[in-house]
Amino acid sequence: MSPRTEREPVDLLVHGAAEVSTPTGSTPRTGRSLADIQVHRGAAVAVRGGRIVDVGDEADLRRRFVAARELDARGGTVVPGFVDAHTHPVFAGTREDEFEMRTRGATYLEIAAAGGGILSSVRGVRAATRADLVERVLTRLDRFLELGTTTIEAKSGYGLSIEDELKSLEVLAEARRRHVVEVVPTFLGAHDVPAEHRAHPAAYVDLVEREMLPRVAASGLAEYCDVFVEGHTFGIDASRRILERARSLGLSLRIHADQLSLLGGARLAAELGAHSADHLEFVDDAGADALAAAGVTAVLCPVVPLFLRLEREAPARRLIERGVPIALSTDFNPGSCYLQSLPQVLCWAALRYRMTAAEALTAATLNAACSLGRGKRLGTIERAKDADLVVLDVPNHLHLVYEHGRNAVRAVVKSGAVVLEREPAVHNLGAREARGSNGHAP
Ligand code: NIG
Ligand code: FE
Repeated sequence: MSPRTEREPVDLLVHGAAEVSTPTGSTPRTGRSLADIQVHRGAAVAVRGGRIVDVGDEADLRRRFVAARELDARGGTVVPGFVDAHTHPVFAGTREDEFEMRTRGATYLEIAAAGGGILSSVRGVRAATRADLVERVLTRLDRFLELGTTTIEAKSGYGLSIEDELKSLEVLAEARRRHVVEVVPTFLGAHDVPAEHRAHPAAYVDLVEREMLPRVAASGLAEYCDVFVEGHTFGIDASRRILERARSLGLSLRIHADQLSLLGGARLAAELGAHSADHLEFVDDAGADALAAAGVTAVLCPVVPLFLRLEREAPARRLIERGVPIALSTDFNPGSCYLQSLPQVLCWAALRYRMTAAEALTAATLNAACSLGRGKRLGTIERAKDADLVVLDVPNHLHLVYEHGRNAVRAVVKSGAVVLEREPAVHNLGAREARGSNGHAP
């Protein structure tokens, strides 16, 4: 070993991992390359200034670096911090009553038509103070972090008036300042038509296009604009008007597309150069080809149809075959998916979509980061990327889709800081394996 003085100082060394598993690159992976991950066995990760300095053989890294702090992965698996590219975290009350109604046979659209659904969450947000919403969002960000998610896209969309949409975006801005989870804000004023405009929905489209969007763009509070393009909410023409206006004001686009019917949301996303088309349960081959040709990422939410008791699921394998970049997300919201766990989404993507562990990992890290315009900085464990890492108490990456229901997150690193660390259980398999494989006591 070279003398201690010649070793380069780093802030953090994550060591003792059975595997460091990661996609590579900074552009979305498609087709067969969705499964091309790198599995570094016995590897460590060196971190300085919030960035990854190197990843590779632990003995080699120890020869070259001296770390101010070490994080022992105890025989677990290290993956990139998960990126959830579709969430709706700004809400005040929950909607477990609607879940029960569906259990007894009601449908999502029936509940919405009766004034429940999105509009029930709108009543909650309008009645809530900013401070109350901030506290709720911060608690939700804690939960995302505990589940290994280090970056989320987060939508407004339960305000549906200028004041309440701006309030929701301000809540996200404050939560972002106060929490380590990176929050990418999206304006979703066109989530539904609020009760006061139900008699004249066109007036609400005008309001979004002519008043809300200029105010939102001027506020600098949103990076993206999204529209729920659907028969009972916003049709293709109204959606195009809103999204074109958003784009002209400098916002990038995401679209809730072809979720409950084949309305043409995917084709609209391709036509407008949206960063993502989300849900896509009803997308057809022409829509898929349009997405592939335009390089629009399909953000799939496999738990939503299960939660809503809808049979139709996104044709994930067909989308992959046709070259569409795939991301996986929770769609966390109080109505159609009260779930914050991306690891759980990965399990369901394997079961329902037949995605392999490697494909699911890429979809929930690199591809999700790319869909948020952050592929250069996030989504993989490679030199010069931000050090966003999750240490999982599992012996290899195949467990990502194999073991259900346990939160296997042992530690989380965001921008180089160890922001979460759990004590291992006493009879811990990962710990025993770590002792056997690299000699580090737990
Ligand atoms: O992504 N599709 C539209 N929006 C949500 C549902 C929101 C709600 O029901 O509150 C979704 O599924
Ligand atoms: Fe959604």
